[in-house]
Amino acid sequence: MAQAGETVALPKPALTGPSSVEQLMAQRRSTRDYQDTALELAEIGQLLWAAQGITHSRGFRTAPSAGALYPLELYVVANRVDGLARGVYHYDPRRHRLLSTHLDDVQVELCQAAWLQECVQEAPAVVVFTAVYERTMKKYGKRGKRYVHIEVGHAAQNLFLQAESMGLGTVDVGAFSDDAVAEVLQLPDDFEPLLLMPVGHK
Ligand SMILES: Cc1cc2nc3c(=O)[nH]c(=O)nc-3n(C[C@H](O)[C@H](O)[C@H](O)COP(=O)(O)O)c2cc1C
Repeated sequence: MAQAGETVALPKPALTGPSSVEQLMAQRRSTRDYQDTALELAEIGQLLWAAQGITHSRGFRTAPSAGALYPLELYVVANRVDGLARGVYHYDPRRHRLLSTHLDDVQVELCQAAWLQECVQEAPAVVVFTAVYERTMKKYGKRGKRYVHIEVGHAAQNLFLQAESMGLGTVDVGAFSDDAVAEVLQLPDDFEPLLLMPVGHK
């Protein structure tokens, strides 16, 4: 089990799966109820890789990024994940690992920040998409904000289809207090929370 400040190596992601992309798109549905079963570390790693994993020696990722500037930063709030103590973890795509930021039981507070949507509290884990707008806006100006929002959609859909492929359910949670989520996760000032995705077994 990781302690705050520790790194957790994630298992190498799989590059094959049981279903076609057409099947996954056809069967994908938002899921807000999950079994109590814990997630495995490899499952969390696979989901994060699908959203933002590095797939090219020049640093390109599973999801496209305007100017390859990669403004997205992903966090995991772990509630029931084998091999992870409850707490908040930051995904490092370059090393495909997690950095433990703090080890509090924050799921209840995160649920409150999301206007008491129960799926946030009940899920074994919640993936939080944040963005540093400035990385993209310094090149593209005001239009860069639009690009960041397009990118989070790409990454989230990758995670959605990957979850479906693994028999996991998820849902986009866009209704939350930005300030409250930033506080619960102790985000740096320039990290904007954009989307929560609770994940668990269907
Ligand atoms: C940007 C966005 C924000 C959403 N926010 C929420 C949310 O806060 N809570 C929720 O339960 N569902 C949320 N949803 C999920 C939609 O309710 C869901 O996609 C829609 O009902 C269609 O169902 P389906 O995803 O199963 O096709 C959101 C979806 C999107 C795209």
